[in-house]
Amino acid sequence: MDDKKLIFSGIQPTGTFTLGNYIGAVRNWGPLQDEYNCIYSVVNMHAITVRQDPAALRKNTLDSYALLMACGIDINKSILFIQSHVKTHAELNWILGCCTQFGELSRMTQFKEKSQRHPDDINAGLFTYPVLMAADILAYNADLVPVGIDQKQHLELARNIAQRFNQRYGDFFTLPEPYIAEVGAKVMSLQDPTKKMSKSDENPNAVISILDDKDTIIRKFKRAVTDSEAEVAYREGKDGINNLMTIYSSVTGKDFAAIESEFAGKGYGDFKLAVGEAVADHLEPVRTEFARLSGDKAYLKECYTAGAEKALRYSQRIVLKAYHKVGFVDLK
Ligand code: TRP
Repeated sequence: MDDKKLIFSGIQPTGTFTLGNYIGAVRNWGPLQDEYNCIYSVVNMHAITVRQDPAALRKNTLDSYALLMACGIDINKSILFIQSHVKTHAELNWILGCCTQFGELSRMTQFKEKSQRHPDDINAGLFTYPVLMAADILAYNADLVPVGIDQKQHLELARNIAQRFNQRYGDFFTLPEPYIAEVGAKVMSLQDPTKKMSKSDENPNAVISILDDKDTIIRKFKRAVTDSEAEVAYREGKDGINNLMTIYSSVTGKDFAAIESEFAGKGYGDFKLAVGEAVADHLEPVRTEFARLSGDKAYLKECYTAGAEKALRYSQRIVLKAYHKVGFVDLK
């Protein structure tokens, strides 16, 4: 191995990404591949902590895999795999579970929120979710983990678990650090620009999926909520316009000053149309590549099989050492 740092990240198999996931996270993963060694996983084992339809989960997992490739993850540069294909995650999960306290897991805000949302299914997997996430990261001794703010608490717990293992059994796991992207703007709902754009939004006009077609994208931007002024300017209180400017800036590369002068004297109608067109044009190659990959199931299978083999080879070394450290009898 070279001396590049190792990045690990997991993404839930939701099948498609919102423009928010894309601009805020996934788009930045491609360029990281040259500077770091990167390992990315579609975390379908985490997905079943809430009820899933099996056929839909299978499809969404494959779609997410293809989408990551379409968004620029290059399987010749990075390891891209499906979590359930690599048994070391479940194996390390058990050991790490024995290094995690009930009290620590009880304090996780995501657990508290999700158990409120699904009071009829507060299962043990939902409770120990962060342990499996720690296993994902520690099975590779990853240095850096790109995470959004909502996952920071889980990452801190992963560090604490690693530290506890190291105290008990001797220094072994790398303590992973959050990787906060320099760019990666936050995209807000098109219908309520004080709220983050979220796939679970009940209003479909609030959310752009990166697989929406051009007409749909333009229609949603035309309906975007703005304000009663008529000036395209980035200013406090103009949440709707600020959001559209952020989006326009991140797909065109233009800064706010350039955008303000481009639309000086023009109305919001013109601006919304321009944002819609720019986003649709920007996403066009992603959509085309996704369609090509999902139409070629044999190639996709080759990719995820090779990814799983590489991930297993890498993590098995580490997990077998962890087995030895805790006192399990070596098989060979
Ligand atoms: N919990 C993460 C999320 O919901 C997904 C995830 C699972 C993850 N394992 C991971 C992220 C390991 C980073 C590293 O977004």
